[in-house]
Amino acid sequence: MTIWGIVVAAGSGTRFGGPKYDVLLAGRPLWAWAREALTSGGAGDVVIVGDVPHGVGGGLRRRDSVAAGLAHVPDDCTYTLVHDAARPLASPDLVGRVIARLDRGDVDGVVPAIPVRDTIKRVDNEKVVATVDRHVLAAVQTPQGFRTEVLRAAHQASDADATDDAAMVERIGGTVVTVAGDPRNVKVTYPDDLLLAEALVEAGES
Ligand code: CTP
Ligand code: MG
Repeated sequence: MTIWGIVVAAGSGTRFGGPKYDVLLAGRPLWAWAREALTSGGAGDVVIVGDVPHGVGGGLRRRDSVAAGLAHVPDDCTYTLVHDAARPLASPDLVGRVIARLDRGDVDGVVPAIPVRDTIKRVDNEKVVATVDRHVLAAVQTPQGFRTEVLRAAHQASDADATDDAAMVERIGGTVVTVAGDPRNVKVTYPDDLLLAEALVEAGES
């Protein structure tokens, strides 16, 4: 079994206020945290997509950046983990859970998921139309793991955009299951998210 990781670190960081690829967390860029998470969790090789040392060029959409990384993953690679550089705090345990579930061999993709914390409303023009049962919802994280051949097929099947790779695998009828995600595996989307990540690192060190 061979496992490759792809860390996507391109994009414009519109909500953050600028590109995130060289943002430092405890003195280390986000993409380096993300790479370390994948290798310490079991990935043999990692390709970084973005304007970073030894990185490969990204694309306009996240899915294009993943495709750019996938082009560097060998054909005979068994499993590919796709991870956002914007999630520096994925633990080796979490990465290991994704790999272990994949390696049971009965699914095409595995996503870490956590329960939805907020009450969710369906809204139309400011008017609340319904309260959605949050127990049937899950918030999903990265790394997401896939049988490499299925991930490739999903990327080749359609050029439609998607916010994650699992959605593309679902679209071609692939089986995607969840494993327990980690609330500490926060995504740096807005500037305040970085403050939260810093606090979590500090708390982990003490
Ligand atoms: N990403 C990428 N290439 C893109 C867009 C996103 O590699 N064209 C990566 C980002 O670096 C990030 C992850 O995908 O690690 C999740 O994307 P997001 O947090 O949405 O980053 P941006 O798209 O840069 O931010 P925004 O949507 O606020 O513009
Ligand atoms: Mg984005």
